[in-house]
Amino acid sequence: MAYFEKPAEGSWTQHYPELGTGPVSYDDSTSPEFYELERKAIFRKTWLNVGRVEQLPKVGSYFTKEIDAAGASIIVARSAKDKVRAFYNICRHRGNKLVWDEFPQKETRGFCRQFTCKYHAWRFNLDGECTFAQQEAEFFDFDKKDYGLAAVRADVWEGFIFVNFDPEDTTSLQDYMGGIGKGIEGYPFQELTQVHKYRSEVGSNWKLFIDAFAEFYHAPILHGGQYEAEERAKVSDVGYEAIQYALDGPHASISSWGVIAPPKDLSMVKPIERKLRSGLFGPWEAPDIGIDELPPGVNPTRHRNWGINAYLFFPNFMVLIWKPNWVLTYHYWPTSYNTHIFEGTCYFAPPKNARERLAQELAVVSFKEYGLQDANTLEATQRMLESDTPVKTFPLNDQEVVLRHLHHQANEYVTRYQQSQADGRS
Ligand code: FES
Ligand SMILES: [Fe+2]
Repeated sequence: MAYFEKPAEGSWTQHYPELGTGPVSYDDSTSPEFYELERKAIFRKTWLNVGRVEQLPKVGSYFTKEIDAAGASIIVARSAKDKVRAFYNICRHRGNKLVWDEFPQKETRGFCRQFTCKYHAWRFNLDGECTFAQQEAEFFDFDKKDYGLAAVRADVWEGFIFVNFDPEDTTSLQDYMGGIGKGIEGYPFQELTQVHKYRSEVGSNWKLFIDAFAEFYHAPILHGGQYEAEERAKVSDVGYEAIQYALDGPHASISSWGVIAPPKDLSMVKPIERKLRSGLFGPWEAPDIGIDELPPGVNPTRHRNWGINAYLFFPNFMVLIWKPNWVLTYHYWPTSYNTHIFEGTCYFAPPKNARERLAQELAVVSFKEYGLQDANTLEATQRMLESDTPVKTFPLNDQEVVLRHLHHQANEYVTRYQQSQADGRS
């Protein structure tokens, strides 16, 4: 008997009949050929989140981003107070990487009025126009105006900067974010400027790590060691159910209950949590970030035990909004069919004193501990999926509907791309 009410069809999965309920194949996570198709069909064709506007505080601020899956390095820069632009990071003279510091493969950031190439000092302004070509008169039929940086479409949604490599895609970012994006518009992300970041290289297909964060079915078991013994027995007995799942286009949302903070019985949490009044779910006391009412997509059922909403914006961007007014984002950047870079970023309201800062830091390190536990299974899973075994398909339960949807979407994008190629369209 479900604790939280399910749709009339009897399950979340059956509510979306295109997903089916049968066991699924993980061939999409073990095939170099499929990954090459994903690069073209997904990472060159969808809106990808590359950062936040706070990373570009003033005109001339910039950062670079290496997007291996799209085969590109880009420069993202603020060219005017209200304008964020993106360019391919390649000099128009002879192809040197335009912006980099000590190591060309490393990302960098900074502030400048113009970008100057290290090779022959061509210069480009913040709108990408070529403003200076060394010994210009030596060139033939040459007009600097024809040699601006190659632009990448960039747009901003709720302070999150996105790029899109497909010159033919006319879908606006707003439309791409769909109903799930719309549902969280207005959340005061801009108040959460205290940022802590993790980045790691993971030996698994990018989708496998999303799978691990797209269900909480594993939480009572895999993270069981995080609980005090008695609490652990209780949670593994109860298992996990989300309050609500919603799928919309390629995106998904999970609305989940959360722990009660402070807990009714303080012996249920670790001494450091008692001391700092914080834990994985964040500091127990929520700061005032000026929310009168949550946007409709955050705790959509207005459940009193709500604790967190997780959103997966296809393909590789997750946003988690926690009840105590903080936010976590995940990015999964593929580097091959069985490796990717994971980025986890925690956003808090600036702490007002040392105690608040420590409470935030406890949430940050708790997240790291959980993240390591999640990541720990991935290389073992990848290895086995790639091994030669008769086990080819895997059953997914109703609490795994979001990952069933993710793999379904990846396959849909690839199939559509293959069809368009066969039809002679790009
Ligand atoms: S390659 Fe950049 S100025 Fe020559
Ligand atoms: Fe987990």
